[in-house]
Amino acid sequence: MIEPIPADADSAARAGQYARVRESLASLLEGEDDWVAAMATAVCELHHAFGHFDWTGFYRARAPERLVIGPYQGTHGCLRIDDFRGVCGAAARDRATVRVDDVSSFPGHIACSASTRSEIVVPVLAPAGSLLAVLDIDSDRAEAFTATDAAHLEAICADLGRHFAGAEP
Ligand code: SME
Repeated sequence: MIEPIPADADSAARAGQYARVRESLASLLEGEDDWVAAMATAVCELHHAFGHFDWTGFYRARAPERLVIGPYQGTHGCLRIDDFRGVCGAAARDRATVRVDDVSSFPGHIACSASTRSEIVVPVLAPAGSLLAVLDIDSDRAEAFTATDAAHLEAICADLGRHFAGAEP
């Protein structure tokens, strides 16, 4: 398991940690063809690597407007998100990363935990563009997620999208 970095780590430290996580996932998932196992492994590696990650999980795209919870780490997450609601729904609808510095200012934010202050959601897309899932990460710190987090999480989600392009979400 990768040693975690502190919640206030700078961009260089975060970039180095993401590189270690990405390398670890490439090794752990080599030859793996099970989508659930891959998601479980990805959230485990990510959640324990960063001090500002307080909830880390996937919501699978079971239908165009229905997200269903997948593997996650942290307190209970809501099981379904319909009609593109919340931060996850916005990322699924637009197939683009949504980074929220203050969840109380996001219209329709779904609060699975009262302690969440900021959030980032990254879509997992197959190379052809179909939505497989969204990766949702919550922090109890305001403004916890930076452009560095977004870029590296998008690279990890792109790796998963390529690896599991044909997966049943
Ligand atoms: N906050 C998310 C819902 C999922 S819980 O955070 C795990 C949203 O607004 O879509």
